[in-house]
Amino acid sequence: MLHKLAELEESAARAIEGAKNSKELGELRVRYLGKKGALTALLRRMGELPPEQRPRAGKRANALRSKLERLLEQGEERLREAAAASRVEEERIDVTLPGAPFNPGQKHPLTLVLEEITAIFTGLGFQVARGPEIESDYYNFEALNLPPDHPARDMHDSFYFTDQILLRTHTSPVQIRTMELKAPALPVRIIAPGKVYRRDDDATHSPMFHQVEGLAVDRGVTFADLKGTLLAFVQEMFDRGQSIRLRPSFFPFTEPSAEVDIACIICRGKGCRVCGHSGWLEILGCGMVHPRVLEVSGYDPEDVTGFAFGMGVERIAMLKYGIDDLRLLFSNDLRFLRQFR
Ligand code: FA5
Ligand code: MG
Repeated sequence: MLHKLAELEESAARAIEGAKNSKELGELRVRYLGKKGALTALLRRMGELPPEQRPRAGKRANALRSKLERLLEQGEERLREAAAASRVEEERIDVTLPGAPFNPGQKHPLTLVLEEITAIFTGLGFQVARGPEIESDYYNFEALNLPPDHPARDMHDSFYFTDQILLRTHTSPVQIRTMELKAPALPVRIIAPGKVYRRDDDATHSPMFHQVEGLAVDRGVTFADLKGTLLAFVQEMFDRGQSIRLRPSFFPFTEPSAEVDIACIICRGKGCRVCGHSGWLEILGCGMVHPRVLEVSGYDPEDVTGFAFGMGVERIAMLKYGIDDLRLLFSNDLRFLRQFR
């Protein structure tokens, strides 16, 4: 009997030691200590022993039961610790690893340029005005001195909803809307940034593009004020030493009219592909507000004068950032857009 108990002790201890999970331990508990277990079976046979041997064997058997219980307990503890350690290993955070990249996005180059243009002109005392993108024939053309047979009114140049309603082709209607609201108060000093639409589509013309209109009306406003304002703008936007050139031009709503060129940013006026080897690049149209435009808007052209200008924002962005195809601005290519942080 003692021999059998010793054998049982050895095999049980080895089995418990080798258990890989608590299910195996549970099975071992049943196998050795359960009602039909090995130790229980030995205890049942205690009666077969001669009486003088029984106390010793009984003591030994009880000691073995306690020992196996202790071993099973320790086995559970060992498994719990191993599981916890492997969980810690799995979930370990390496604080020296770089964080997961998060793309916060950034402003579109046109937004950046529009904000900069706006900041420069508000710094010069201009306020921001806005007008509708769906405009009437009256504000888009007629009040601006564009007679019904003017080529700019051609259906192919504009997007019409009806004969009288269209997508505005420039921001100049905001001139009229602003003066109508303010007249006869002075001074008027506004810029009007926004989207405009034309039936155009190539590397330098988009069907939707942005303009910033400028308008200043007061007593004694001169062409010199216009030129000084535009020079201040260009030097702030591009470079302190940047020069401008005014070329005589025609707009029905300004008289006299001019187009403004800046010395080419790319070649600094020497002549290159971007400026067509002229050394100059056109950025806007401008002029002194036509007396008839002042009149229809509620101002007396004998009393006040004004200047106006309208610049293409895409054109300014292209010059500022050296972009050679305007369509890049609208292609939603992140490789392009990510450059403008
Ligand atoms: C005008 O639109 C006048 N309203 C400007 C003006 C305002 C003159 C006030 C006098 C007084 P123009 O059609 O030239 O002018 O357009 C002005 C600028 O818009 C151009 O110099 C060009 O930079 C830009 N532009 C014109 N068409 C497109 C187009 N399809 N895509 C992108 N930019 C364009
Ligand atoms: Mg032009």
